[in-house]
Amino acid sequence: MSIRIDRENGLITLHTAHTSYQMWADRLGVVHHLYYGPAVGDCDLRGLEYYSDCGFSPQPAGMDRQRDYSLDNLCQEYTGSGVGDYRIGCLRLAGPDGSRAADFRFVSAEAVPGKYALPGLPAACDNGGECETLRLKLKDVVNGLAVTLLYGVYEAADLITRAAVFVNEGEGTIRLDKAASACLDLPFGQWELIHFQGRHCMERQPERAPLGHTIQTLRSARGASSHQHNPFAILAAPHTTEEAGECLGAMLVWSGNFKIECEVNQMQSTRLVAGVSDDDFSWTLEPGGQFAAPEVLFCYSEAGLGELSARYHRFLQHNIIRSVWRDKPRPILINNWEATYMDFDAQRILDIARQARELGVEMLVLDDGWFGQRSDDTSGLGDWQVNEAKLGCTLDQLIGQVREMGLLFGLWVEPEMVCANTALYAAHPDWALTIPGRAPSTGRSQLVLDLGRPEVVEYLYGTFHRLLAGHDIAYIKWDMNRNMTDVYSRALPPERQGEAAHRYMLGLYDLLGRLTRDFPQVLFEGCAGGGGRFDAGMLYYCPQIWCSDDTDPIHRIKIQYGTSFGYPPCTMGSHVSASPNHQTGRSTLLSTRAVVAMAGTFGYELDLQKLTGDEKEMVRAQIARCKQLQPLLLEGRCERLTNAVADSCFTAWQFTAPDRSRAAVSVVVIDPQANPWPIHIRLRGLDPDALYHESLTERVYTGAALCRAGLTLPIMQGDYPAVQIMIERMESV
Ligand code: DGJ
Repeated sequence: MSIRIDRENGLITLHTAHTSYQMWADRLGVVHHLYYGPAVGDCDLRGLEYYSDCGFSPQPAGMDRQRDYSLDNLCQEYTGSGVGDYRIGCLRLAGPDGSRAADFRFVSAEAVPGKYALPGLPAACDNGGECETLRLKLKDVVNGLAVTLLYGVYEAADLITRAAVFVNEGEGTIRLDKAASACLDLPFGQWELIHFQGRHCMERQPERAPLGHTIQTLRSARGASSHQHNPFAILAAPHTTEEAGECLGAMLVWSGNFKIECEVNQMQSTRLVAGVSDDDFSWTLEPGGQFAAPEVLFCYSEAGLGELSARYHRFLQHNIIRSVWRDKPRPILINNWEATYMDFDAQRILDIARQARELGVEMLVLDDGWFGQRSDDTSGLGDWQVNEAKLGCTLDQLIGQVREMGLLFGLWVEPEMVCANTALYAAHPDWALTIPGRAPSTGRSQLVLDLGRPEVVEYLYGTFHRLLAGHDIAYIKWDMNRNMTDVYSRALPPERQGEAAHRYMLGLYDLLGRLTRDFPQVLFEGCAGGGGRFDAGMLYYCPQIWCSDDTDPIHRIKIQYGTSFGYPPCTMGSHVSASPNHQTGRSTLLSTRAVVAMAGTFGYELDLQKLTGDEKEMVRAQIARCKQLQPLLLEGRCERLTNAVADSCFTAWQFTAPDRSRAAVSVVVIDPQANPWPIHIRLRGLDPDALYHESLTERVYTGAALCRAGLTLPIMQGDYPAVQIMIERMESV
């Protein structure tokens, strides 16, 4: 049993293999947070609480004689609003009488086997007996707003999921202006915030800074989780490293506007609040109405950031990703985008496919430009008819020839958008998010369809269902290339416009849910101008996401490094592209480009016909090597051996098989030096007593030697050279 409810004392304890979490409902019904950290067994931790009359911290009604009791200083499981806690809170609202207060008190707690589901939202699954759910109901007795806090306790995975479902059990209308998913109050400790900031072509760059007595907010108000901030934060103790120290993560299973806020209060406790952003958000609850706030995945590690990442990787891989492709090696693909952009016809595509097939590639992906009037990015989105005049044949004829070569066929789509010069927009101008009387802003010359409208979702479902049912398509690249502006739904009344961005996401999840359910064999790759929507919500539907539009391998190392803190490498779309690179102009070796792309779902995105004979041989060998490595990528543990952002000369990473029988170590020189220092790396996680063969120098070492003494590499100079070293356990003699 991973959930213990001690009704006599009001204590609730959650246990995972290595962590404990405890809360307590006091006699007023306020639910205190007592502890989240390393496992402590079944003991009452109320003695940890600290009460003091610290002045200007008010008492709840009935407690005026107890001046050391204030919501302002108590650690709580979830906050109300306007009743004496001045920190960042979970809630803002307007009750039926216009009052802004909510005072949540305990109603009930029950533990049930299995995992809760969230209406309309992606959420972690239980693959059979892995999870137990705590349902903790709180209520404001005056306005009737009830919230059920849901806790999914995954004992073996060492992970606790949280979510909140609001129900208006009162008689009047309540408007939620903020409705966070979870609050985590850490009573003690100094914490540093690690978060992942970026921009288009440089996503998820880690930043680490101490938390102070200010509010630090990670947020997206772009209608997507965004290139700029990822909905994932880590709190780490000051000296926590990859291999040691305390840290805990909060990851939203959500792809839209979000906020993760942190604050250290006057008594030195740290609060983290995570959920849908309250920017331009409101949700009206009529009596009986319900609102579900998305899930947050909390994970705590006492063994450093590497262990935290490993736990998230396993969990996303096994409990978030639903696709049948989850555990399968993905087909090695050739994508025509950086080879042709939109300038192609079927012959050009078939030439690319033929060459790719000869070299061992398994799937051709036809990217943007095959439909409507789309010769550049100013037109066509929304008119999803195949442009047969441009191709010079039908889509089936093209697919037929690709299939005859022995390749699978994949196709790019961008369903959520419309260009103003299309038949779709002419027929349904009200289907785009635009404000009456205002000329809308555009991004990449396109407008955003209002997926909050059921008829828009229905139309897109019909369109893409027909596409997938009518053609032999094995893979879909689901792109999304602008952020929202003019967020106004023509289908909602003025007072409900604050719901438009949220309803959009619910519509998108509905659409993706139906299509992925109808076509379970199709491999869906998410994309948003690269990694502008790389989050656990999208991974629920798409087992891989195009990591970035920057395919320069030296930049990609940094992007994939940052992404790996939360997300498994097998979810990161990564391709070998041309040199000089189209985004940076940098020249790199083909071998280096392949080493970097093999740290994700591997493919090529260049004109293979332009390669020399030697380079083509290298591609053959790379594909063979990639196939050997795919099981390690899917099942192995990924170690960041260096800090790809801070360490200047080289970077290294390692994949290790779960049984420690083999490992692959990749080292890339990211800044070639004159008179260089030695490149020395220590491996991780090998069996100390076993003997391993190391492929670079063909020497044999014990696991202890490789992990403690390490390896020194020969000098590497030139166009960013790289090596891949295979470490194989030797049969005992
Ligand atoms: C953005 C994607 O990230 C690219 O890979 C490519 O598919 C283009 N869109 C096509 O418009």
